[in-house]
Amino acid sequence: MSQQRLKIEVARAALEYVEDGMLLGVGTGSTVNAFIDELAASGKRLEGAVSSSEATTQRLEDIGVKVMDLNHTGDLSLYIDGADEVDPHRRLIKGGGGALTREKIIAAASRQFVCIVDESKCVKLLGEFPLPVEVIPMARAYISRQLTRLGGQPELRENFVTDNGNLVLDVRNLDLVDPLKMETEINQLPGVVTCGLFAHRRADVVLVATESGIDRLK
Ligand code: A5P
Repeated sequence: MSQQRLKIEVARAALEYVEDGMLLGVGTGSTVNAFIDELAASGKRLEGAVSSSEATTQRLEDIGVKVMDLNHTGDLSLYIDGADEVDPHRRLIKGGGGALTREKIIAAASRQFVCIVDESKCVKLLGEFPLPVEVIPMARAYISRQLTRLGGQPELRENFVTDNGNLVLDVRNLDLVDPLKMETEINQLPGVVTCGLFAHRRADVVLVATESGIDRLK
């Protein structure tokens, strides 16, 4: 089965969690794009959605979903998003698409976070995928030095500005054996907006599309 087919299968499986009249948080990326297509085809009617990126907002509006401001919705019942890496404890690396900060805010404000991935995203230990860190532009060099001190090799994502007007450092070779600790350490550096480790607020359920069907980690 192609990777795109797996994304469609897992997107369809996520519909089981979506109920008519819900306020839904929606992530960013190609798997989420497949989910938005499946949502449109399902005929389910949401009250509205909170979007994690300009790209997702556009797609949601294209299928007639009302996109709402998180400041006006209160907590959300459900958040659906993809990931770049998933470990067996449902901890994630996210931010390959650069939307990590809004994704983390929505995940925090949602009662249930259902993560949808194909099996290529599953790892025993996080860290093969470079860890995205969103930084305030004036702190870029300072934070690069601190990330190097933590054992990483940061690289500025070229020609990229986040929806929040910031930069992204992609960090290789960090020791992520204790992702909770590393998430805390990186997030407390002045000038870091957030890092792409989702260990403190991990997924509640991970749906994994495999050649033989959908696996469910929970
Ligand atoms: C977006 O910033 C990321 O967190 C995405 O969730 C992640 O990159 C997964 O994207 P794909 O579904 O395209 O692999």
